[in-house]
Amino acid sequence: RDVDTHLNLVVFGAAGDLAKKKTFPSIFQLHLNRVLPSNISVVACDDPGYHSHISDAQTLLQNRLKPYLEKECSKPSDLREFAENLQFVPVNFKDVTTVRTLHQHLRSNAKGLADNRIFYLALPPFLFHTAVKFIREECWPDKGYTRVIVEKPFGRDLASARDLSSQVSEYLQESQVYRIDHYLAKNMVLNILALRFANRELGRLFHADNVSIVRITFKEDINVAGRAGYFDGYGIIRDVMQNHLLQLLTLVLMEAPASLDPEDVRDEKVKVLKQFRTVKREECVVGQYNGYQDDPAIQAINEKQGYKSKCPTFAACVLHLDNERWSNVPIIMKAGKSLERRSTIVRLQFKKAPPNSLFGDQPQNELVIRIQPDEAIYYRILAKTPGLSARAHEVQRTILDLDLRKDEVGRLPDAYEKLIHDVIQGESHNFVRADEVEEGWRIFEPLLQSLETPSAPHPFPYAQGTRGPPEADELINGTGYRRYTATGVQGLAQD
Ligand code: BG6
Repeated sequence: RDVDTHLNLVVFGAAGDLAKKKTFPSIFQLHLNRVLPSNISVVACDDPGYHSHISDAQTLLQNRLKPYLEKECSKPSDLREFAENLQFVPVNFKDVTTVRTLHQHLRSNAKGLADNRIFYLALPPFLFHTAVKFIREECWPDKGYTRVIVEKPFGRDLASARDLSSQVSEYLQESQVYRIDHYLAKNMVLNILALRFANRELGRLFHADNVSIVRITFKEDINVAGRAGYFDGYGIIRDVMQNHLLQLLTLVLMEAPASLDPEDVRDEKVKVLKQFRTVKREECVVGQYNGYQDDPAIQAINEKQGYKSKCPTFAACVLHLDNERWSNVPIIMKAGKSLERRSTIVRLQFKKAPPNSLFGDQPQNELVIRIQPDEAIYYRILAKTPGLSARAHEVQRTILDLDLRKDEVGRLPDAYEKLIHDVIQGESHNFVRADEVEEGWRIFEPLLQSLETPSAPHPFPYAQGTRGPPEADELINGTGYRRYTATGVQGLAQD
């Protein structure tokens, strides 16, 4: 029972960027919504030697968190109440005594109750190994569970992902590790399995018998200014495709799991990931927006390495799956920074009717799942053109709208809020298992290697605020994919 246990929710890297933008605002929201356990201590940890103006909970709040938390609250007392319960313990991973002090601190918070501990590693990946070692060896409770939340990147290729997994598994069991991919907790993504498997007839549309092409598009209208130094080491394929978009795709393409038990769901996800072929270089177009090289961080990198960065800020790939359900259905994955708008959309384009069919040559129907902005599901179908003069065979494209916002009850949780709440509940559905991470790398690794050889050509340039390089459209058109406007005429679709 809640009253017999105490939860220490510990954030390592509390003075860092992720903690201020995502971790603490989400914990704060959970607090405001009164869904945190009654016996909880939120313990922020960081190294004051590294962040000189942060030495206690008060300075952490004032100098880091306040503007981000203020956005979330409706009255000043909300923040005061949260601040009163926020603790700060200095931790320096080079000094084991600081971790021992943390352990004592957590133990005294628990006051003899079962001492459950959740550690959120808002840390750079090079510190993961040390952090889990210290958790296991110096900070393990005598009674109570321990869960550890890990953030991407989970390596930068298959070998480094395997290294990371084995470092973590030296000290933790897989069931104690919660790897965050925040796309899995977006409201519309959480809906995909229900859409497919709670609605039998709709679910049956998801099959090569009906679908000609699957397409997933991620667009952002911002460039990488402010984080170019990080981004250049990863590129768009590692940053969003190998993780977020692939995770989304597994939910769209997987078979029904044996049950909704987290391990059954993740087993089924791994199965479909294993059936993906590795992406071929000739089935990928990469681009880089104009102006990328002018970023001072990129100039510094270029100077150091002696050549211009070839980091892709845009990529379009064609993937293939060899299984009964999806064989011969090209899967287009496209992602880019600094494009014409922000959106993430999954689109199933259905097969065309034969040319001599009843209503003649018509645009293909589409089922569209819009993850963001404004989550929605809609089905573009044909309907009889209304009006006196319309003849019997005249049809037009229309939308069967399954807009879920209409049924919304109150505020929907942000992805991070949902994930932290899940960890507290011990609910691991929406976290990525180590074998999923490795399969993801397997699919993209040969492509990444060929893009990173010294002789690889420079990515195609594209103007910021556009749809990306025209070469990507050539690749995509080659798969048979057709872009339609709302009226059915080929051209610029609105989404
Ligand atoms: C992050 C990437 O993981 O996801 C960013 O590092 C990207 O580059 C972000 O902008 C996208 O997430 P969201 O939730 O803003 O769509």
